[in-house]
Amino acid sequence: MENLASNSESVSTAMDKECIGKQTDPTNIVIFGAGGDLTKRKLIPALVKMLRCGLLHQESKIIGVLKGRSLDEWLASLKEGISEYAKDVDVNNEQWKNFSAMFKMVDGDLADDATYQLLDAALENLNGFTHAMFYCAVPPRMYTTIAAGLHKQGLSDQTKGFRRVVIEKPFGMDLKSSKQLNQELQELLSETQIYRIDHYLGKESVQNLLVYRFANTILEPLWNRNYVDHIQISAAEDIGIGYRANYYEKSGALRDMIQSHLMQVMTLVAMEPPVEFTAKAVRDEKIKVLRAVRHFEKDTVKKETVAAQYSSGTIGDAKIKAYVAEEGVSADSVTETFSAARFYIDNWRWQGVPFILWTGKRLPKRVSEIVIRFRKLPFNLFDTHATPPIANSLVFRLHPDEGIFLRMNAKMPGLTTDTQRMVMRAPYSEDGQDVSDAYEVLLHDVLTGDATLFSRADEVEESWSIIEPILDVWKDRISIDRYRAGSWDVPGMDELFTDCVGGWHKPS
Ligand code: BG6
Repeated sequence: MENLASNSESVSTAMDKECIGKQTDPTNIVIFGAGGDLTKRKLIPALVKMLRCGLLHQESKIIGVLKGRSLDEWLASLKEGISEYAKDVDVNNEQWKNFSAMFKMVDGDLADDATYQLLDAALENLNGFTHAMFYCAVPPRMYTTIAAGLHKQGLSDQTKGFRRVVIEKPFGMDLKSSKQLNQELQELLSETQIYRIDHYLGKESVQNLLVYRFANTILEPLWNRNYVDHIQISAAEDIGIGYRANYYEKSGALRDMIQSHLMQVMTLVAMEPPVEFTAKAVRDEKIKVLRAVRHFEKDTVKKETVAAQYSSGTIGDAKIKAYVAEEGVSADSVTETFSAARFYIDNWRWQGVPFILWTGKRLPKRVSEIVIRFRKLPFNLFDTHATPPIANSLVFRLHPDEGIFLRMNAKMPGLTTDTQRMVMRAPYSEDGQDVSDAYEVLLHDVLTGDATLFSRADEVEESWSIIEPILDVWKDRISIDRYRAGSWDVPGMDELFTDCVGGWHKPS
């Protein structure tokens, strides 16, 4: 331990700046599925960054549970991951040697009791506690198996320190399976031990949305049906499905992005000010929003939603094959790679304001935004001039180039009253350097016990119940509209925005 502490110190002294935030207690960080992609791409880069800036306590341990690899092989692949996915972290050999001294490995099968016995023995008493975070970086079908293994071995017992279990979406594939998962987990763990991670809520600009809303007075008077025409929440991606055909074929864009990330963001946009900034108070407000969302009826689904799939095309110079030609996708697949849905929130603040959530793969660019589009001018004085005034929009850019933009009309310079469009920009950080990765934020929250940005069981079930009628209608489809990879020509999108001031906001 002594050795580890001094080693880690040299890692942090190599740091050039400190992060703002509370340092975690020394914790046993256990990763199930530690040989997988998520661990390599996201979890380890986030942990190394947290360690370097002093957020992660240097006496913590990182315990990987995986099968069929030696500790050295595993560490070599993690090191590769850091150089590939955390390019701003310059880990030289000496620093890596020190960081890797924090690692341990448990070789075992997740369904085997012996694995949890080995894990029990591997957990260390750190400063008088055996705090442990268990991160399930495994397919969801294993969540209950892991929870049962922990429970049986007494590893979920919190007498000697906190025990928190982190799971990733999907939390079920429909209402029934999400209820079943919640019930199974809650028989083995208390709800407060379960951290359902949604990496969208860890994006700095999503949290900034809350600060903008509730730490300023000028927005709140406008934030309602009297001034807002509609709201668009989007996640356009240029990537395809990678190696995930198996999952994506069963999921599709609606489940993959809308039911989870985008509906979560919608709750933060629409919620009332919480009485305090605590997990309970914030999540109580979020669930009220979901309860107020109008449920789709079978016969409104067609009018209120869009589903489409990409055909071959080009993005930049790259030729992109059609979704149906991707490895693992059946040639007659009708899975949607683009989806959109128009939600209404039936409460005093939002009555009649459409919230249009949309997402798609293989679009021209990767952009995620919240667009608050305000009502049109009541009377236009400048109608005869070249560029008619546009409706104002307040745009929260979630990525890339996190920031806030206000689209306004201004006078053209010169002896004229012609208007021109102008964008007031407030980038979240001038050089992009201070924006933490969502996993850093969320891992830090789990380690410090702040569940504000994690979905509670009731929220998950409510959001499934809202989209269930769409899934019911879509499951019987035998064909699907297409859009060319690399284009915005998605059938039905313009119609979905009929009656919305300014129409579909395609990211520029
Ligand atoms: C994941 C989805 O949850 O989020 C992926 O399963 C998607 O399909 C990803 O690509 C998008 O995340 P981000 O942060 O890149 O927008």
